[in-house]
Amino acid sequence: MKKTIEIPYEELSSEKELSIEEQNLLAMAEEATKNSYSPYSKFHVGAALLLENGEIITGNNQENAAYPTGLCAERVAFFYSGAKYPNVPIKTVAITAYSEEIPVSSPVPPCGDCRQAMIEYEERYGKKIRVIMRGATGKVIIFDKIADLLPFHFDNSDLGM
Ligand code: THU
Repeated sequence: MKKTIEIPYEELSSEKELSIEEQNLLAMAEEATKNSYSPYSKFHVGAALLLENGEIITGNNQENAAYPTGLCAERVAFFYSGAKYPNVPIKTVAITAYSEEIPVSSPVPPCGDCRQAMIEYEERYGKKIRVIMRGATGKVIIFDKIADLLPFHFDNSDLGM
């Protein structure tokens, strides 16, 4: 039997169609790109998380001469949120990036490792995390939850938990 998965998402032609709160979160992600340490890729990524307690946590990619040792903006932000506010659910993540070398005009999607890392937080707190993505410019895409970005994901239910 063949089966199909549909993934719902929303597309906005600009961030101006977001609520003021979400425009602000995206602006915080953009601000966070400025502290990205990306001398190798020259690709500066920022992520901003809105927590249920109203706090905003930001992160950016931190690269390393030993390339795989570096970490993406999303995981820096999520792990910091877990470190600082271990029991506070994350409501929304906004992600953006710019490059020193190419125009980034389409939304920046989180890598597979970040999706896996982020879904742990969605399940840990039992609450959906809204995902807002934009390039340096251009349209915005929005997903209702991390799980929509990672069908057939591995989680603690696979460990019998
Ligand atoms: N990167 C992120 O920080 N987040 C993403 O969603 C995609 C990629 C970083 C990793 C690396 O420092 C640079 O962007 C180029 O891959």
